[in-house]
Amino acid sequence: MEKIFSHIESNRAFFLNELKEFLSIPSISSQTDHNHETRRCAQWVSDHMHSIGMQNVRMFETSGHPIVYGEWMKHPEGPTILCYGHYDVQPVDPLDLWTSPPFEATIRGKNLYARGAEDDKGQVFILLKSIEACMKNSGGLPVNIKMLIEGEEEIGSIHLEDFLRANKGLLKADFALVSDTSMFDRDLPSVCYGLRGLAFVEMEVTGPSKDLHSGAFGGALHNPIQALCEIIGRLHDEKGRVTIPGFYEAVLPLTDRERDAFKALPHTDETFAKKVGVKRLYGEKGFSTLERLWARPTLECNGIWGGYTGEGAKTVLPSKAHAKLSMRLVPDQDPVAIARSFSEHIQHIAPESIKVKVNSVAGCEPVLTPIDSPWIKAIISALKRGFGREPVYQREGGSIPVVAQLKKILDLDPVLVGFGLPDGNAHAPDEYIDLDNLFSGIRTLVYFYHELSYSRAEESSSGMHDRI
Ligand code: BES
Ligand code: MN
Ligand code: MN
Repeated sequence: MEKIFSHIESNRAFFLNELKEFLSIPSISSQTDHNHETRRCAQWVSDHMHSIGMQNVRMFETSGHPIVYGEWMKHPEGPTILCYGHYDVQPVDPLDLWTSPPFEATIRGKNLYARGAEDDKGQVFILLKSIEACMKNSGGLPVNIKMLIEGEEEIGSIHLEDFLRANKGLLKADFALVSDTSMFDRDLPSVCYGLRGLAFVEMEVTGPSKDLHSGAFGGALHNPIQALCEIIGRLHDEKGRVTIPGFYEAVLPLTDRERDAFKALPHTDETFAKKVGVKRLYGEKGFSTLERLWARPTLECNGIWGGYTGEGAKTVLPSKAHAKLSMRLVPDQDPVAIARSFSEHIQHIAPESIKVKVNSVAGCEPVLTPIDSPWIKAIISALKRGFGREPVYQREGGSIPVVAQLKKILDLDPVLVGFGLPDGNAHAPDEYIDLDNLFSGIRTLVYFYHELSYSRAEESSSGMHDRI
């Protein structure tokens, strides 16, 4: 392995230039005027797979953005890993809050700043370079690898499920490696074993059939912006609990063991509050911050608009007001059932003075993954060697639609190991990846492939959810 590691070390500058090129492509999947760039990015991934020696590299068309696939299947006995990542990124606005332009990757201190630096191009790059380093220096890999890199994760992986169903044979593997999460802290690697699910909804409140003069009509009608705020205000009670009937019904309670494990992690509310710039934290009473983030469902308003928001005053009583809301879900909540309860509850509490339309836009299921598999043992040992520190187990509050689908459709247990940071500004201005973590991540995966080949891990027969 020495040769592999010295290849990584001596190619540091070269790797960074390649990553900068990958990060310069504005593959914003949600913005159709970027479709051309998003496709160009898929092509970059596909070309890169070719250039590192992967085989059967293909770009699969969907009715949205393409899915990129490549494999190296020449190891006679090694296990087969299905590696997942996404090449699409989130929008970049507000642009003026970026210190350097989002698609001109810039190194400041130990960090590389750009949209996608950690979510998820940086991590896709870690996968690619770990494979390249092995291929170039030992003529192959100690395992078999299939890579599945999609371009629609940030819009809910809308065409991935059909693709998985239609390509079960092609995607057959022993387990999946998903690199799209964070470490617990800068020097603290982690294995993630739980993700929240998501139900995303939009609301449109209509008052009068057209905009009106706020002087001539104000006082006689319910302003839709006010009504929308009143509705949103009623969605939490004074204990910070969501008021939708049945919302918590299917929630799997935390075990005492898991509560204790959360408590043992190096977290303080003071440091956390300081990092996000608030004086005091807020959330559901009776739960710690990590419990609220990882194991309790929530409802957030993501955006709200209506009326006049341009320069100066315009005294208008608007016809419409809008909001986007997301509910983060935990096992065993069902996104479809939750979206339905939301919609029914809104219709129930909406005053007769306005009309409200609810539209359910996206959803994905929450997951808990097994932590007792041979694959988890191998990644723990690899992280220890790659970072020189004992990793921790954690859950995360974010969502990755493919993870539940991998289990349901392909019967694959996912290993979630990521190299971002909780304060790496994913989805926000000044997103970055820590360069030490980037290179430790590449080394960790090299160790991982070798660990798997030493132990010739037998397929986990139990697949049981042995919860912490
Ligand atoms: N990489 C994130 C998911 C994530 C976030 C994992 C934080 C762990 C911690 C992913 O790219 C993402 O942003 N997912 C969306 C999913 C949605 C659009 C269906 C999310 O969580 O909002
Ligand atoms: Mn991601
Ligand atoms: Mn994301």
